[in-house]
Amino acid sequence: MARIAVLGAGSWALGISLLLHDNGHEVTIWSALQEELEQIDQHHENPNYLPGIMIPADIHTEPDIAKAVSGKDIIVLAVASKYIRNTAKHLNGLIPDGQILVNLAKGIESDSLSPLSEVIREELPNANICVLSGPSHAEEVASKLPTLVTIAGNDMETAKYLQSIFASPVFRVYTSDDVMGIEIGGALKNVIALAAGMADGLGYGDNIKAALITRGIREISRLATCMGAKMQTLYGLSGMGDLIVTCASMHSRNRRAGILIGQGKTMEEAVEEVHMVVEGIVSAKAALLLAEKYQVEMPIVAQVNRVLFDHLPVREAVDNLMMRDLIAE
Ligand SMILES: NC(=O)c1ccc[n+]([C@@H]2O[C@H](COP(=O)([O-])OP(=O)(O)OC[C@H]3O[C@@H](n4cnc5c(N)ncnc54)[C@H](O)[C@@H]3O)[C@@H](O)[C@H]2O)c1
Repeated sequence: MARIAVLGAGSWALGISLLLHDNGHEVTIWSALQEELEQIDQHHENPNYLPGIMIPADIHTEPDIAKAVSGKDIIVLAVASKYIRNTAKHLNGLIPDGQILVNLAKGIESDSLSPLSEVIREELPNANICVLSGPSHAEEVASKLPTLVTIAGNDMETAKYLQSIFASPVFRVYTSDDVMGIEIGGALKNVIALAAGMADGLGYGDNIKAALITRGIREISRLATCMGAKMQTLYGLSGMGDLIVTCASMHSRNRRAGILIGQGKTMEEAVEEVHMVVEGIVSAKAALLLAEKYQVEMPIVAQVNRVLFDHLPVREAVDNLMMRDLIAE
């Protein structure tokens, strides 16, 4: 049995807490938002995040982050990506050297353009940082539906240890040493999901969806490999796998926001209606800046940016993609 702190109390934090609890580990949840912890303590459920899923009473909550992380074998970071730096900052001085941290958030920091494990490393240089990613909607994990993910770390012994902690008969875990590949794939699939949703919102069909997924992973791979990722990671669970699920599922908030924009709503109206952080919007801007920095062509990402930030009508964005110079595949 491992002692584990989960930082964050949103849908993924709760889904992964249930999995770890089912695996026989001691789980303590901390959140910066007091009301999330009160909701768990009082109702053993969070109807906003995982309606109908009961949270067992022996999953503890702890409002004091110092107490929550004290003496833990593993700390899981499960806050939305924009809170990762601040949450890591909170841990400064509270954890020993070599503390195992597992990042679940997917995104690229907007100011630094850094993947999130690098953001965590800047704040906590002596921590042992791993990332978990893959096609894993919290709603399905919480309902114990079969799910496969990848855990990556620079230290393979730690990745294997975490594999044994997270794996279950319904949650199969692979290991990888390609942290960059896992993180760039996880962050940028949200941008392509916005595009897939926009196409759905316009009433387009399955052909364009399949094309966006296929050409999308191609442009994600172009950038990721320039940043040091391995091509095979981009075609694995945390790349192609996550891209497929995000572009196809109604659980995906990025796709849902895209649908609303495709139907004629502005970015702001779509975010308001989805009522959750739409991480693909931040990642879209970051991806465009990274594409410029690494001199990589990312046509889908470029058009998504023009729709989001320049008010280009979605139909024109699709025309722009269709009418590009004809090239070899
Ligand atoms: N939901 C999923 O199915 C899923 C699956 C895989 C990965 N992820 C990734 O996991 C991360 C968390 O996603 P999510 O869907 O659970 O939640 P979310 O985006 O709804 O995150 C909200 C959580 O962030 C935390 N938070 C909010 N304000 C904060 C603040 N000021 N300071 C610190 N923490 C704050 C809270 O605990 C809140 O519940 C995201 O990066 C997401 O991409 C989500």
